[in-house]
Amino acid sequence: MNIVVIGGAGFIGCNVADYYLKNKHHVTVFDNFSRKGTLQNLQWLQSKYTDNLSVVQGDTRIDFNKLKATVGKADVVFHLAAQVAVTTSVVDPREDFEINALGTFNVLEAIRLSGNNPIVLYSSTNKVYGGMEHVTIVERNGEYDYASLPLGVGESEQLDFHSPYGCSKGTADQYMIDYSRIYGLRTVVFRQSCIYGYRQFGVEDQGWVAHFTISAMFNRPLSIYGDGKQVRDVLFIDDLVRAYDMATQRIDVTSGKAYNIGGGPTKKMSLLKLIAHLEQFFGKKLTYSFSDWRPGDQRVFICDIRKAKNEFGWEPKIGVEEGVRLLAAWVKENKDEFRSIYF
Ligand SMILES: NC(=O)c1ccc[n+]([C@@H]2O[C@H](COP(=O)([O-])OP(=O)(O)OC[C@H]3O[C@@H](n4cnc5c(N)ncnc54)[C@H](O)[C@@H]3O)[C@@H](O)[C@H]2O)c1
Repeated sequence: MNIVVIGGAGFIGCNVADYYLKNKHHVTVFDNFSRKGTLQNLQWLQSKYTDNLSVVQGDTRIDFNKLKATVGKADVVFHLAAQVAVTTSVVDPREDFEINALGTFNVLEAIRLSGNNPIVLYSSTNKVYGGMEHVTIVERNGEYDYASLPLGVGESEQLDFHSPYGCSKGTADQYMIDYSRIYGLRTVVFRQSCIYGYRQFGVEDQGWVAHFTISAMFNRPLSIYGDGKQVRDVLFIDDLVRAYDMATQRIDVTSGKAYNIGGGPTKKMSLLKLIAHLEQFFGKKLTYSFSDWRPGDQRVFICDIRKAKNEFGWEPKIGVEEGVRLLAAWVKENKDEFRSIYF
């Protein structure tokens, strides 16, 4: 197959590219290389694969003809290019809108006008459900939890876009679904929780599991916004990539639909729990301090992943402790790469 990964030099994108290259497909990475670490991710792919990998440097906001030519030859398009941080979206909402909403609209239009009809998978976010103020939160065993949502948040939850990032990603999410309805495009939307794993150059604003792990490795002090008891369901990258592949293989059922994709109720972690895992792995105490909650920070988010299981047979396999160990071991083994990116 011809696989196009828009945002293919990013964390999730380069893992998706690696998966399909390993399985002998042709992969085109389309990226503007704006994110730190993307050149390293590209070099990593190029060092592993000499054949079957093409690279197009382009920006979804402005390079419409390049985009159209690239998707015009694709069997499957993964659209992962984005402005990814809520904090940055508040500082520059126009740029956030242009990358996430306009950029995605351009991807859809490029596909519609190309005359080709590839499968399109879009990486949306659980932020489309907003603050869910109607849900009662309790504290259990030193961390927050839903009082009465043991299976987590399902896709029938009311959409409620919070923050410029929530609005721009939510817009893109809805355009994806509507282009299936109106134009017959074969789109699938994944509303993803926190993803973590290899080749994630996390920073304070985004990618907290990797950010904590890298800080632990290099003895950098951490700021915890809030009390550290906040909980997220977390999903290891290999489980996500497997979900991408399974959903595209079952496009007969997944087309035009949205799925919540995360670790679900059995793979969740608080910030304090991550610190405990890292202290155990690295055999040292981490330095951290507490600051005020950031606006819009949820106490808990855990998604209900049963729809993905029921409709295309996916469920995550990698447990939290194992995933953190895999990520921490990768960071430890690749110390030098981090030095050139961060310090
Ligand atoms: N990582 C997570 O926990 C998570 C959770 C929910 C949703 N998502 C979504 O998954 C997708 C991938 O996230 P990631 O963690 O790999 O982020 P990332 O920042 O590592 O990757 C995004 C990639 O898009 C590229 N890019 C940005 N703007 C572009 C543009 N205008 N044109 C072309 N390329 C552009 C960047 O250079 C980068 O390579 C994003 O859409 C993100 O919103 C991620």
